[in-house]
Amino acid sequence: MNLELLKAQAQSCAACRLAEGRTQVVFGEGNPDARLMFVGEGPGEEEDRQGRPFVGKAGQLLDKILEAAGIPRGEVYITNIVKCRPPNNRTPLPDEAKACTGRWLVREIELVSPQVIVPLGAVAAEFFLGEKVPITKARGNWYEWHGIRVFPMFHPAYLLRNPSRAPGSPKHLTWLDIQEVKRVLE
Ligand code: URA
Repeated sequence: MNLELLKAQAQSCAACRLAEGRTQVVFGEGNPDARLMFVGEGPGEEEDRQGRPFVGKAGQLLDKILEAAGIPRGEVYITNIVKCRPPNNRTPLPDEAKACTGRWLVREIELVSPQVIVPLGAVAAEFFLGEKVPITKARGNWYEWHGIRVFPMFHPAYLLRNPSRAPGSPKHLTWLDIQEVKRVLE
């Protein structure tokens, strides 16, 4: 098994109701040997259109954060909890997240085998922490998932809604968080 094969298999997935509303499946992408993996919530409108994760406004901010930290996007692997766009960008329902992570995300993680996973936002963090924790509490802390280090950060869409860069602001904290991730990978 490899990522290309897994991606091909996912294209016809109909394991949950999200299959009905999607334009296409948005599988993860990036370096198949990445040491760092980002996991978002699910495709938005632009991702659904292009068939690639994090290519809309939130993705552009993620690109900027990575660039500012000196982490080339091509070096990391980027994926989502659910691979199909939820209607009107609603939060994925628990059964949708379960159907999708069990079939695809867990296998992506096994194949990439990253050293560090960064869940972006509360929905992704919940999967790795095994419980709902406010992202304001979870972010900036190290956890472990099946022997892999996990470091939740704010979702870039949340940063778009909170543009302040003042000390203690979500953007400022995210800047500190990405430095911490870099430090651990060096
Ligand atoms: N938000 C996400 O959580 N994932 C994407 O791929 C795009 C926006």
